[in-house]
Amino acid sequence: MAEVTLDLRDLPKLDAYAQLVAHVDAVLAGITDPIAAMATISALVHHGFGHLWTGFYRVVESGRRLRVGPYQGTLGCLEIAFGRGVCGTAAAERRSVIVPDVHAFPGHITCDARAASEIVVPVLSADGELLAVLDIDSAQPDAFDEEDRVGLERLVEWFARHPASDPFHSPDAGHHSRL
Ligand code: SME
Repeated sequence: MAEVTLDLRDLPKLDAYAQLVAHVDAVLAGITDPIAAMATISALVHHGFGHLWTGFYRVVESGRRLRVGPYQGTLGCLEIAFGRGVCGTAAAERRSVIVPDVHAFPGHITCDARAASEIVVPVLSADGELLAVLDIDSAQPDAFDEEDRVGLERLVEWFARHPASDPFHSPDAGHHSRL
């Protein structure tokens, strides 16, 4: 049952995120590769809720630069400086940022003109290092609230619970490996 993309759209958010957290743990059992985790989490969140864009920007220069990671949606911009846009603000301030109306956020970076609201949450390692941010765009205004913030922050705790293996030279093989 693990290899299922959940449809969470009709559930209360608290239930949706509880299911999502459990499902991510099940799907990623045996995996510590952060790229595989980012790809899997992007797909499950994106299709589970029907968002416009869902994905990760990774810290490639500490305190300076984010670069796009695994995502679902239309083409995302490749790099974002700390302090720029919603992602760069969340990264610089190491806090979640909810933007009910992207047009009212000074410096918002538009990747898809249909985006109306956005949430960005920081992704931390077990020792509190900023690894990435998780960025979600919605075509609906005011789509995200405190329940999304809490749910998504819980979801990305996966990265603190699973110290990263080298994504390019990792022997990870989960129980549902196709090898
Ligand atoms: N809107 C983001 C940029 C990334 S895209 O939405 C995929 C921002 O302002 O940081």
